[in-house]
Amino acid sequence: MTATTTVPEITEFPLFNKGKVRDVYDLDDKLLIVASDRISAYDVVLPCLIPRKGEILTQISLFWFNKFDMPNHIISSNVDEYPESLHKHKSYLQGRSMLVKKAKRIDIECVARGYLVGSGWEDYQKTGTICGHKLPEGLQMASKLEPPLFTPSLKNDTGHDENVSYERMCEVAGDETGNTLKNMTLDLYSQAREYALTKDVIIADTKFEFGEVDGKIILIDEILTPDSSRFWPASEYKVGQEQPSYDKQYLRNYLSGLDWDKTYPGPSLPDEIVEKSLDKYKEAYKQLIGKDFE
Ligand SMILES: Nc1ncnc2c1ncn2[C@@H]1O[C@H](COP(=O)(O)OP(=O)(O)O)[C@@H](O)[C@H]1O
Ligand SMILES: [Mg+2]
Repeated sequence: MTATTTVPEITEFPLFNKGKVRDVYDLDDKLLIVASDRISAYDVVLPCLIPRKGEILTQISLFWFNKFDMPNHIISSNVDEYPESLHKHKSYLQGRSMLVKKAKRIDIECVARGYLVGSGWEDYQKTGTICGHKLPEGLQMASKLEPPLFTPSLKNDTGHDENVSYERMCEVAGDETGNTLKNMTLDLYSQAREYALTKDVIIADTKFEFGEVDGKIILIDEILTPDSSRFWPASEYKVGQEQPSYDKQYLRNYLSGLDWDKTYPGPSLPDEIVEKSLDKYKEAYKQLIGKDFE
């Protein structure tokens, strides 16, 4: 039986946002971002937890925030430095949470793509382009894109983001901000991709969010986690086919063998699948960061 984590009710601050996986609390000029152990598949939150998954995701994100020399929203991930009233939740919060500066979010998903997959591959098959980038003919699924592309999408309230051209994004964000977002995104992605390759990991694509604090653009949200990126084992890469992913492939294989129509409510997972899924997250952590997740 897998150990479970006791999830306390955090009532000291109002909820700012409850996402599929993360709970965000509003501390006025700050936010507390807490990664739970919830897991979603096909956009449905499953009725079981993957113990400590939230810690792994938070640690991966923090690893990257530390690595890059780019202004970001992190204030602290040490619960002792959080407001006093949160200290009683330390055993839950430590490792899975971060206290951040609340930013005025820029409502654009800043996507960098180094390989042709997902919605990019779909768009390419239909139109030969992605977000206004004309691509050469004859590319295959998972072809490498050189140089990587900046393919922004507009966040909208329906939850379905809309892929747009760079020009369209600039109409929304302004030319100067648009240009900054593009440069920051491609800069981060190329640094991350270069580092990851030394660890035998391909970062096929990833998504960043940015916001403004005191008139300055900073990196917000989570970065370069398996939830915001596609990670592939580099040694198994083969163009023209689906790639195995580190995290959810195992789970998807299991789920696709069930008689489940991919709508709410999802199935609960047997212990063995919970454990194997957790192992996959631990593997991703170890592969990238180079040490065991303790
Ligand atoms: N520093 C920040 N300032 C303001 N908003 C932020 C900051 N960091 C993250 N966010 C926002 O907090 C929310 C986190 O929600 P998330 O867990 O991603 O769930 P979902 O995206 O499914 O609603 C997102 O809307 C994100 O843009
Ligand atoms: Mg989100």
